[in-house]
Amino acid sequence: MHTPRTGLNWQRAQALAASERASYMVRNPISAGLAQQAGQHMLFGVPMHWMNDWSTPFALTVAEANGARFRDADGHEYTDFCLGDTGAMFGHAPPAVAQAIARQSARGYTAMLPSEDAAPVAAELARRFGLPYWQFALSASDANRFVLRWLRAATGRSKILVFNGCYHGTVDDVFVDLVDGVPTQRDSLLGQVYTLTEQTLVVEFNDLAALEAALAQGDVACVLAEPVMTNIGMVLPQPGYWEAAQEIIRRHGSLLVIDETHTISSGPGGYAQAHGIAADALVVGKPVGGGIPCAVYGMTAALAARVEQAKRTAPAGHSGVGTTLSANMFAMAAMRANLEQVMTPAAYDYMFALAAQLADGLRGVIARHGLPWCVTQVGARTEFQFCPVPPVNGTQAQAILDSELEHIIHLYLLNRGLLITPFHNMLLVCPSTTGDDVQRLVAAFGECVQALL
Ligand SMILES: Cc1ncc(COP(=O)(O)O)c(C=O)c1O
Repeated sequence: MHTPRTGLNWQRAQALAASERASYMVRNPISAGLAQQAGQHMLFGVPMHWMNDWSTPFALTVAEANGARFRDADGHEYTDFCLGDTGAMFGHAPPAVAQAIARQSARGYTAMLPSEDAAPVAAELARRFGLPYWQFALSASDANRFVLRWLRAATGRSKILVFNGCYHGTVDDVFVDLVDGVPTQRDSLLGQVYTLTEQTLVVEFNDLAALEAALAQGDVACVLAEPVMTNIGMVLPQPGYWEAAQEIIRRHGSLLVIDETHTISSGPGGYAQAHGIAADALVVGKPVGGGIPCAVYGMTAALAARVEQAKRTAPAGHSGVGTTLSANMFAMAAMRANLEQVMTPAAYDYMFALAAQLADGLRGVIARHGLPWCVTQVGARTEFQFCPVPPVNGTQAQAILDSELEHIIHLYLLNRGLLITPFHNMLLVCPSTTGDDVQRLVAAFGECVQALL
């Protein structure tokens, strides 16, 4: 039977892990000291508990980040293929965004009123994503939460449907998985006191019959989906899947919400624009303001009319949508600069060519060593996976995750000045990444694989 470790020498792998950990500790005395200090006043010793999910014995402290590169507290330079897990997908501190927020920094940050940038930003979003009406949030998690609330209110339906293995941020409703085919609340979720399976349906991605059956009752407000699953490793839609899925969703009176937070790697208008998916609502977070906290969600005119009607006919008072700092002047200035000057078609063309070079290079290493692994590319996003052919659903993708093996590879690369995402094996390129950076990554990946055989 195939396991992610097929073809590897696991004893050597464990010895390699130990020596890489030792080398990391020797290389990073200042980060070690800062981590120790942090342990005194931060839960788990880090600002966010998941910062301990990296492969490192203690957190690496970043001193400075620019373009495709960053420097750590000990003075080592890195090429960043993680790019803040998409938050810095267009490079760290893109000059146009840096200038815009520097300008805005002397002109106020938040006033609970629209800034002069708000209307141009919404117009640009409408042009680029083909949806006429927009709202703002501080994170993609919030944007997804708000969209679900609006759509439940607009449709009068309480249920939503998600795909097994999805992630849409810290939105409680979506943490329902299929465990041996049974919808089950994700057991890692902390402090959840509601029974999520009552309102959330879950089916496998790429399974049209299951989608049809789940929507048949006519009580599902919306399907919330990434057009390509990216958070359990990459799972591509099979040919014709989205055409048929859209027809099923519409026929049952449900709405389609496309979360492009990661698949914005596919082009200036995201995966949906590039592949002809007509979403009723669309969410983008993370890189939309160049890494400044903000997110956006848009909708069709028909849905906007239903949403506005729901609000207008509701009793006066809190809607449950929005936070005080959402759509603040600072974020608007960042988004305007980023959308107009950074997320350009030319930047995407450059990133696509580089990501193709990266994917080819990784495939070459895998082929040369006869490993049963594969590589998937979605625009500027590339992923190597521990299976001979790409998985077609969340269950398959989950089965081939191997965090121990991932950590060894990640740490090996990190010790050689190359950062990739801590979760599974995702790599991003940005407009400042160079062909040389890609060659270095591919060469180091090859050496790592060699050491594991
Ligand atoms: C597809 C998708 N949507 C939403 C989110 C949530 O983004 P944030 O953590 O910025 O709220 C993520 C985070 O990884 C994501 O991958």
